[in-house]
Amino acid sequence: MAFDVAADAYDRFMGRYSAPLADQLLDALGVQPGERALDVGCGPGALTARLVDLLGADLVAAVDPSPPFVDAVRARLPGVDARSASAEELPFDDDVFDLVLAQLVVPFLRAPDTGLHEMARVTRPGGVVAATAWNHAEQGSSPLSPFWAAVNDVDQGAYDESSLVGVGDGELVRILRSAGLDDVRQLRLTVTVTHPTFEEWWEPYTLGVGPAGDHVTGLSAEQRSRLERRARERLGDGPFDVTGTAWCAVGRA
Ligand SMILES: C[S@@+](CC[C@H](N)C(=O)[O-])C[C@H]1O[C@@H](n2cnc3c(N)ncnc32)[C@H](O)[C@@H]1O
Repeated sequence: MAFDVAADAYDRFMGRYSAPLADQLLDALGVQPGERALDVGCGPGALTARLVDLLGADLVAAVDPSPPFVDAVRARLPGVDARSASAEELPFDDDVFDLVLAQLVVPFLRAPDTGLHEMARVTRPGGVVAATAWNHAEQGSSPLSPFWAAVNDVDQGAYDESSLVGVGDGELVRILRSAGLDDVRQLRLTVTVTHPTFEEWWEPYTLGVGPAGDHVTGLSAEQRSRLERRARERLGDGPFDVTGTAWCAVGRA
């Protein structure tokens, strides 16, 4: 599984973008003190940590099927109810959370509609359910776009993440509505990260995290060097900024 990797590898590859995205998401939702929150597909805890800052560990639960990620959340955020579980089968009673979030998770769910039904089930009536996904569908709009563009330069038509569920305009909205959520609206969230050097940007792609990491792992040494050279031609030696947008759908249970 592309997410059965060390927490540190994930932080360096994706946490550098998902931590600022978590700030954007929570700002947009306007979380209130005293609310009880669940982070679904928490990874090593980028969003979970923000929820703990706002609500306190006792009011935060988090689930992920990847054992190293659940271990990392337990170690980093003591007091959080961190469990090994999937969105499609949440180990909680009905109506127990005020806020249930899935940041960058829907594209990786076995059964996205089932996952969103489960998220709605554990949310109290009137509580908030929100999901985000990088905008891979519009060219140049995700933080991974410079990587996938370089892949396409050296191997035209190769797989990229544009066919994943939820990465297109309005797709998350449709999934939340079909899970029975009300007042569903779509937001666009944007993050910009400055990379001091090309190497700092590139090296995490070699750690085997997610579909991009899987892609690099599957290349020969020669193909990998070719891809790295092409990416450097596109980005330069650094510093440079990478900007990405995420779709966010928010609804009420
Ligand atoms: C791109 S990461 C996002 C992690 C974290 N939410 C963040 O923003 O950094 C996708 C996460 O979804 C998790 N995941 C994969 N399948 C899942 C499932 N069926 N239910 C819940 N989470 C799942 C992965 O283990 C991984 O941690």
